[in-house]
Amino acid sequence: MTKGSDIGLIGLAVMGKNLVLNMRDHGFSVSVYNRSQEKTREFLEDPEVLGSSIQGFYSLQEFVSSLERPRKILLMIKSGDPVDHTINALLPFLEEGDIIIDGGNSYFLDSERRFKELKSKQIFFVGAGISGGEEGARNGPSIMPGGDFRAWEFIKPIFLSIAAKSQDGKPCCSWIGSGGAGHYVKMVHNGIEYGDMQLISELYGLMRDYVRMSSDEIALVFDDWNNCELESYLVRITSEVLAAKDKNNRSIIDSILDVAGQKGTGKWTAIEALQADVPLSLITGAVFSRYLSGMKEERILAKEAFSKSDLEFSGSKKEFLQDCFHALYASKIISYSQGFSLLKKASTKFDWDLDLGEISLIWRGGCIIQSVFLQDIKNAFVSSPDLPSLIMDPFFQSALKQADSGWRRVVAAAVLSGIPVPCLSEAISYFDGYTTSNSSANLIQGLRDYFGAHSYERVDRPRGEFYHTDWSGDLETNLV
Ligand code: 6PG
Repeated sequence: MTKGSDIGLIGLAVMGKNLVLNMRDHGFSVSVYNRSQEKTREFLEDPEVLGSSIQGFYSLQEFVSSLERPRKILLMIKSGDPVDHTINALLPFLEEGDIIIDGGNSYFLDSERRFKELKSKQIFFVGAGISGGEEGARNGPSIMPGGDFRAWEFIKPIFLSIAAKSQDGKPCCSWIGSGGAGHYVKMVHNGIEYGDMQLISELYGLMRDYVRMSSDEIALVFDDWNNCELESYLVRITSEVLAAKDKNNRSIIDSILDVAGQKGTGKWTAIEALQADVPLSLITGAVFSRYLSGMKEERILAKEAFSKSDLEFSGSKKEFLQDCFHALYASKIISYSQGFSLLKKASTKFDWDLDLGEISLIWRGGCIIQSVFLQDIKNAFVSSPDLPSLIMDPFFQSALKQADSGWRRVVAAAVLSGIPVPCLSEAISYFDGYTTSNSSANLIQGLRDYFGAHSYERVDRPRGEFYHTDWSGDLETNLV
């Protein structure tokens, strides 16, 4: 009997196709299936595919039968209902111990549900976050698999082979946790991606509208930043996007409308942070900024109504750009610190036992937020696994202290000149809030007790003791 294919993939859109080629290049035999037969045919006729070990099928049953047991089926299809429909269509042909992997950007609670439903049928479900876009899928993505751990020994050799390798040769893939853990971690990855892009865009906006630099000049600044602590995929491609010219030698960036789209993973991250009581203000601010960008017509009218005057930049450009570097670096530390705090909280809430150091390692390469900075985060978690916040790690403490005055000058200049920097200022507000030992929240408690008798704790009494004052009567305070 001939050996079946090592793995099957359903969904031949660009990510799916590139993953198939990546697996093939690493010596795995792959069967493919796509709902529209035309796509399968086209793919099989592609010169890159012709004559290789990739087999195409036009019936699900034949596709499933072509796979070596336990069957491993990777779904690279649109998240939501299509995933459920495809799983239901596959089930009649599967046997106990077969494995379904959802490699899309699925909502983690859907993955939790699918994991439980399939477990009861003895089918092992894996929700795997896969990051890196087209290029990552082809040459090595970062993979975040979670779900039924029994599947891991069977899919591990394939995933570790096709994943990106970081500079020390370590694959950017490791087992994340049970149920929907893999998709949760991918969701937070995407939230951080939103934060990074928003911060980068705010600094671009300041350089363009305040310092009045050309796209070419700004591209050089980002290129420069890509050779230091900020070295990352997003900073590198920012420089490329800003430098790109159309056939008339005009900057392409200047013809792109300032309305940011979104598929929803950033919004999910913000919602989950609210559910988990985690102050994820930077990523949430980035999501709100995308909504505000969508209000293009209203913004045009408001601009006319308020006729904002432009403030002239004066001073040393070199010094201001150095301040901008500090502002970006410090705000990035705040954003990641918030993101990892959310992961920490979710780990306890869902009992996932997430290894935060390992997660930072598998994000070092292959994914959209890949950067050298993630190695520093790993180091922080290695030296202090119970770190309350990344901000408290000695390395990041010293970076924040060094960045402090430049960061504040940048935010102040933006506010004075009316240039929106919601996430740069959100970051500084969070930092100031986190480092304030005596905040103004005592007044909130006083007001709540005044109008609603909600009671408050006292500075001179142990925590957990609650008091109420008779505000409209004799002002007597009693333990409640
Ligand atoms: C990745 C990307 C990928 C996708 C985002 C875009 O990790 O490869 O994050 O998942 O490009 O979903 O998200 P928005 O459309 O919401 O910006």
